[in-house]
Amino acid sequence: MIQAENLTKFFGQTQAISNVSFSAAKGEILGFLGPNGAGKTTTMRLLSCFMPPTSGKARVAGYCVMNDSLEVRKRLGYLPENAPLYTHMTTRNYLHFVSEVKGIPAHERSRKVECVIGDCGLQEVSGRIIGVLSKGYRQRVGIAQALLNDPEVLILDEPTAGLDPKQIIEIRDLIKNLAGNRTIILSTHILPEVSMVCNRVIIINDGIIVAKDTPDNLMDQLQKNTRIYLQVDGPKQKIFEQLGNIKGVDKVVNKESTNDSVFSFMVESKGDLDIRNAIAQKIVENRWGLLEIRAVNMTLEDIFIKLVTTESE
Ligand SMILES: Nc1ncnc2c1ncn2[C@@H]1O[C@H](COP(=O)(O)OP(=O)(O)OP(=O)(O)O)[C@@H](O)[C@H]1O
Ligand SMILES: [Mg+2]
Repeated sequence: MIQAENLTKFFGQTQAISNVSFSAAKGEILGFLGPNGAGKTTTMRLLSCFMPPTSGKARVAGYCVMNDSLEVRKRLGYLPENAPLYTHMTTRNYLHFVSEVKGIPAHERSRKVECVIGDCGLQEVSGRIIGVLSKGYRQRVGIAQALLNDPEVLILDEPTAGLDPKQIIEIRDLIKNLAGNRTIILSTHILPEVSMVCNRVIIINDGIIVAKDTPDNLMDQLQKNTRIYLQVDGPKQKIFEQLGNIKGVDKVVNKESTNDSVFSFMVESKGDLDIRNAIAQKIVENRWGLLEIRAVNMTLEDIFIKLVTTESE
């Protein structure tokens, strides 16, 4: 449904994204995860024909975003970051207005408007002025306008930004219900959001894709980079050095110590090597006291930070 190939965008000298390639199948919910300035909005704008790429290609619903932008627009709904809404209009009037702008034939407008009002749970506020609606409802209006042309592809730029926890849950549920036959791409900074809503995640940092996989696979894959927590009774600096010398150890981090002779460390191994035995042996050899040793699972947040910091190092 979506194919992006080496999408690259420069703004003057600034490279916003570089060789971004990915695809999304019909019915999939794909999440773009990345920090501020990563290039999420830029990628979404290229896909929705808001602006052309500097180089690279993308197809949406079978049409090229550069050569067939009209056909792409017909099949695509876009909720921009900070969706602009006409706050003096009522929800229903605004949706009528957008359907006219989108070129929906007059005789179909009422049916389409009532349909998206229903789909987005806007019945209660359909006669109210948008300016007085809560942020959660305004966001629903933004999503409703994106749905008016019954698009095959829905692009939502930070749909839950600025909402309270209850509204966030409601919008996530709404997005999941909208998927079905549609392909949805959404962007977020919120890590748990991708595992809750998306089938697949693309982690983007500094304009470059650093990972793409299902949230579960991503965790499995990176969990292989095992982290071991240990508490040792012995000389801090010497322990630190010796741990770093063990084969397969990638990194040793000092953790806060409980007292002057017992020290805590976090040791990361390379790949999926199990280094617990080697660590225990080293400590015994040195006649230090091993008070605790355990594997620590990585959260999606740890993985994200690891990927993002590794790339920018
Ligand atoms: N119109 C523009 N003119 C110049 N630079 C831009 C423009 N739009 C984006 N950029 C730059 O491109 C890079 C990517 O920005 P983009 O808005 O795509 O990131 P983002 O991932 O959406 O960030 P955020 O999470 O803050 O929304 C940034 O360095 C940004 O400053
Ligand atoms: Mg953005």
